[in-house]
Amino acid sequence: TTVLIANGPNLGRLGSREPEKYGSTSFDALSQLCRGWADEILGATADVRQTDDESELVGWMHQAVDAGTPVILNPAAFTHYSYALRDACAMVTAASLPLIEIHLTNPHAREEFRHTSVISGIATGTIAGFGTDSYRLAITALAGRLG
Ligand code: DQA
Repeated sequence: TTVLIANGPNLGRLGSREPEKYGSTSFDALSQLCRGWADEILGATADVRQTDDESELVGWMHQAVDAGTPVILNPAAFTHYSYALRDACAMVTAASLPLIEIHLTNPHAREEFRHTSVISGIATGTIAGFGTDSYRLAITALAGRLG
């Protein structure tokens, strides 16, 4: 099995991006952690990707539907306004594939504009606020789903 772990805009800058909020783990180090967790917890391969491009992220959701791949998604700022990404994610869950929305921070404890997620309503579930552990918890949640 392969699990897609897709990351939206600015997450490629992890490590140097506002470390007081997002931590000091680089995106490469986080990717490595995710591959290890997927292997240990799921016996699966994690396909960890990041893009700043909405169209590319939408295309990855289409690929997941076509390939039957479960998705863990940190939509980053797209969380709050991308109806295109929401519609693409809706196709994933409509295909009975799990899609877990994750965030490093707790958006509800931050600025008002982060309190809305256009993704949550069509996600299987959401995990937020645990830093890089949000990724591990999402992989653990998938294990329960995939059996
Ligand atoms: C984020 C939270 C979003 O509000 C923000 O735009 C991000 C990262 C998180 O992981 O905490 O880029 O998704």
